[in-house]
Amino acid sequence: MKKPIHACIFDLDGVIVDTAKYHFLAWQKLAQEMDIPFTEADNEQLKGVSRVESLKIILALGGKTLSQEAFDAKMTQKNEEFLGYISQMTPKDILSGVKQFLDELKENKVNIALGSASKNARTILTQIKMIDYFEVIMDGTNISEAKPNPEVFLKAAEGLGISPEFCVVFEDAEKGVEAAHQGGMRAVGVGSPEVLHKAEMIISGFEEMNYRIMTENL
Ligand code: BG6
Ligand code: MG
Repeated sequence: MKKPIHACIFDLDGVIVDTAKYHFLAWQKLAQEMDIPFTEADNEQLKGVSRVESLKIILALGGKTLSQEAFDAKMTQKNEEFLGYISQMTPKDILSGVKQFLDELKENKVNIALGSASKNARTILTQIKMIDYFEVIMDGTNISEAKPNPEVFLKAAEGLGISPEFCVVFEDAEKGVEAAHQGGMRAVGVGSPEVLHKAEMIISGFEEMNYRIMTENL
């Protein structure tokens, strides 16, 4: 029998806003400076992954190593580049259909949380004026284990006081879908079926989603 849905937990980058492209552009610039070829396909590996892990993956792609000092400098440089992009963001950058869906969840008494690996999550939510939408915000400042570890989603569910089996996670990253499953939650993939085929349901955007569709398909 279908389990009811009492909470929805949203990833941020690539789900609420299209910041995944800014992460890519910032990493691509750094990779170019280090003469490491870095494509959008390579970038899929970085989605949902922490800043430290992302740089490690890029260095591994190029077969390079850095001193701790140089590594830290690259991390700072990447974040400054990324912050430059997000400082220009406004509520117009919220992806189509997201707010309508969240409003509908609230009308149907479904709790809403954020579960993101980003340490910039609160800055982005403030910038797009959505920080008050989320009852619980779990982000890169609250967790020690990166997705596919389910820590961020389990902490979000715990913060809401809802058992994982009644939670649905919305994710654009393969590792995020895996994290949801490892935490005992259902997952909706937002993006391409090629990447997100393990999710119980896949949408290309929130124009395709509403409360009825969600409850009928999960
Ligand atoms: C995730 C992104 O949401 O946050 C990753 O999908 C990113 O690409 C990670 O590396 C960490 O973000 P930040 O903003 O703390 O560098
Ligand atoms: Mg994401």
